[in-house]
Amino acid sequence: MTAVSAPTRTKHEVAKAADLPPGARKIVKAGRFQIGVFNVNGQYRAVLNICPHELAPVCKGPVRGTMLPSKVGEYTWGCDGEILSCPWHGWEFNLHDGKSLHDPKCHLKTFEVLVEEGTVFVLV
Ligand code: FES
Repeated sequence: MTAVSAPTRTKHEVAKAADLPPGARKIVKAGRFQIGVFNVNGQYRAVLNICPHELAPVCKGPVRGTMLPSKVGEYTWGCDGEILSCPWHGWEFNLHDGKSLHDPKCHLKTFEVLVEEGTVFVLV
């Protein structure tokens, strides 16, 4: 039997939690990645700053909501502050899981975020 060790991850400081309030974002370099860290309605989320479509800096795009599935003739807005829209062609991604709204198989790479003693870190 061969023992396989899990790859270790490194903590990279992002910001003081007080400097990253709900709705705020910060794009940081962490190891070989450029990562956008977002405060999504009080929950920290981190995604790779590369759009899977044509490699745009997706984390520079607007964060807003989206139209939810609804009956014909009805328009229901939801997920406010949870949807990242790519600045180049408008593909939309859910910041909670990185998944594209139009194709769940297409997604942004996500990273774990943790808060220790008032400081936000991303694990890479
Ligand atoms: S590069 Fe992001 S939608 Fe085209």
